[in-house]
Formats: sequence, structure tokens, C-alpha cells
Amino acid sequence: MTVFGVDAVQSAGTGELVVGAKDIVTPLARELARERGVTIVVATARPATAPVAPATSNGATSPASPLVTPVFTPPSSNGSSTPPAPLKPPAPALYRRGAPLHPSVAPAALHQPRLRRPEVTGTGKSVKRVVVVGAGHVGMITAMKLAEANIIEEVVLVDIAEGLAAGIALDLTHSTSLLGFDTKVRGVTSLAEAGSADYVVITAGRARQPGMSRTDLVEVNAAIVGGIARDAAAISPQTVLLVVTNPLDEMTHHAWRASGLPAERVIGMAGVLDSSRFQALTGLATDSSPSTVSALALGSHGDEMVIPLSQARVGGTTITHALPPAKVTALVDRARNSGAEIVGLLKSGSAFFAPGASAARMVLAMATNSDEIIAATVRAHGQYGIADGYVGLPARLGRTGLREIVELPLAADELTAVRTAATRIAERVADLERIPAPS
Ligand code: 2OP
Repeated sequence: MTVFGVDAVQSAGTGELVVGAKDIVTPLARELARERGVTIVVATARPATAPVAPATSNGATSPASPLVTPVFTPPSSNGSSTPPAPLKPPAPALYRRGAPLHPSVAPAALHQPRLRRPEVTGTGKSVKRVVVVGAGHVGMITAMKLAEANIIEEVVLVDIAEGLAAGIALDLTHSTSLLGFDTKVRGVTSLAEAGSADYVVITAGRARQPGMSRTDLVEVNAAIVGGIARDAAAISPQTVLLVVTNPLDEMTHHAWRASGLPAERVIGMAGVLDSSRFQALTGLATDSSPSTVSALALGSHGDEMVIPLSQARVGGTTITHALPPAKVTALVDRARNSGAEIVGLLKSGSAFFAPGASAARMVLAMATNSDEIIAATVRAHGQYGIADGYVGLPARLGRTGLREIVELPLAADELTAVRTAATRIAERVADLERIPAPS
């Protein structure tokens, strides 16, 4: 049995896609086939070759387009007390792209993320420019993942260190044919040189050293982040700021205040990273692909991180059915402390592959107007009983930032934990606001 996704439809041009009687064509592929007038033909014998990667205009094959795949799918609400037997989805991509799940776990309530094809700009790219401030390791990885997605006309790295951003940008440009993208990558030393941007990712700031907490960084990084946010909003009044710099919760609030932008356009990256860590660690613990683990990390990016287990699943079953309680608790704790674990191992600097990939993932979710539910540090206005303040919550993101905060049916203890996180963040923000602003 073969699973035909959008890549197969794209490589079919405007002709027909021949599939075998037992093969599966994903909903996305069917939708794209309809859009492109591709006829799906069921042959008696399976086609000789598996679908190939789509060819770009110059004939080179390009990696699959950056179809944003959900990190979280709400559990079934079929009300059955005994969870459905674990399902091995036909293929992680299929599973993650909202393909028809087995009827026993695909009740109406199950969120089937629908991807909107990005609008096309002049060069066929849906986004004109993304600026990444800070050409350290996190900024470098963010820029690379954004460029590789090949839906952005230009990614601009900004760093005050002379030549650093330019050197990284040129090095990334040298990899275009290898990695199959034609996004332009530029490196400059100021936001002014970068120009107006649809999205500005703020990674600049001091990284943690062994023994330091994220909060130890607050004063020095508040000055850096505040200046960037203010300048970015002045250059690009319509931009969306994505904050990555730690301490994340406080820095996101600070960027919102300094920029003067609406809260919907100032978002923090933390939950995607923490969710990804939990997925990876749980996948290892259950010997399953992390893509079959669905969970959301909410609350703070730190001690008050919360993973609502009522919403967490492995394959087709709840995590509390898949693993003993002590193991689940250990996985949540390790995910929460993974940042410190890596700082301790590296001795100098902090994690950057997963943080950079997470930041790029959020920009792509916005750029593709993804329908999926994603963990984001956003400003609540009463949702989950949180009056007013930044905290990690389930959200839907769109081209102009936060589209909606999604209220999931959390268990009472989970709701309390998220509310407690919001209270602790507000206390730390109040401390931050007592620090006199730099003159
Ligand atoms: C981390 O958790 C750097 O905040 C980032 O590793």
C-alpha cells in the first residue's frame, strides 16, 4: 500500500496521478488535485514507481513544500471510557497531515488541520521578508529552516557584530542548490538595513551559562529586546514580532510594551519547543515515532511549564494508558528541564537546534495560515480564567499573528496549573517593570 501526499500531486503536473486500488490519497492531496485539475486514476496494478519529489521550474527537485504539520491534535471526544487501541497510522506524514484516521479515533471533535495554500507573491513566495535579529546559533538555525521552507522571498539576518550575519547569510546561500531552496538570504548589521518585514524573530540576547536561571538574564536582555522591538515596530508597523530571547515570558511582555504593537502581533516561542522535547522524549520511551505523540506544553517556559495529560496521546491512546504515571511524570519533568540539561552539557551557551527549528515552525504556521492548534506564549484576555497577561496557551496562528486562543477542556488540576503559571509570570513581569528603563 502506498500513501500519496501532495508531493505526488505536485509531480503529476496537470496530468493524472495513477494509484493502486489499495493505495491511500491524503485529503490534502485530493484538495490539491482538485485545485490543479489533476485526475486521480485507480489502476488495477500498482504504479511502477513511488511518487517522486516535485521538480522546481529549473528542473531541480525541491524538498517537500513546508506543509506545516500539526504538533498537536485534540484527543477524541467519543466519550468512551476505554481508549481506542493504539493505532499505527499508515505513515507519520499522513497521520500528521490530518488524513482520515480510523473511525474509532476520528470523531467529529478530532481536529483535522486544514492547510491553506500560501498566497503567491511576485516570485511565487507567499511572504516577502522575514528578519531574524541575532545571528547566534539560534538565529542561524531559524534563518536556515525558514530559507529551506522556500515560501519566503527573503530572510535577513541582523547582528551588530560586523560581518557575522553577512558571513552566515553567504554560507547559507551557498547551500541553496544542495538544500533545494531559492529564498534569498542576506546579512546586515542593523534593522534599518534589513528593511520592512512581515515577521521579525528576536533571538538576540545573552545566553544562559551553567548555574544561571532564565530569570538571571532578565535585566540585560530586557534592554536588548526592548530596543529591537521598538525599532522593528517603527520600521515595520504591520509586522508580527516572534520573541525567542529568554527569560521568554517576561521578554515577550516587554517586547509588547516596548513595540506598542497590538498583543496579537507580539508572540513568544516556548511551547512549541517544550512540546517538541516532550514528544521526542516520549517517542524514545515508547519506541514510537515522536510524530505519533500529540501534546501541548502550556504555562511558562520554565518551572511552571504544564503539559495537560488529559490532552496528551501516544498513537491512538491517552498517554496515561501508554505509560505508568511515574514514567509520565519523569518525562514531563525532563522536558521542562531540557534547556538546563543542555546548558550543563554544552558548558557554554544553550540549546539552538530545537529552539531555532521551533521559531521557524511558528513563522511557517503564521505564513501558511495553518489551522492547527499550536502552543504559543500569547496575551490572554479572560481565556482559561486568566484576566490579562502573557502565558503559554493553545492557539491558532495566522498571517497577522494570533488568530484565536483555543479553550480546550482541561482537567481541573491542569487549569489550576496554567492559571498559577500566569500568576507567577505576572509577578516576574511586575519585577521587570520596576527596573528603570535604559536612558
Ligand atoms: C531552551 O529552553 C534556550 O530557552 C531555550 O533551551
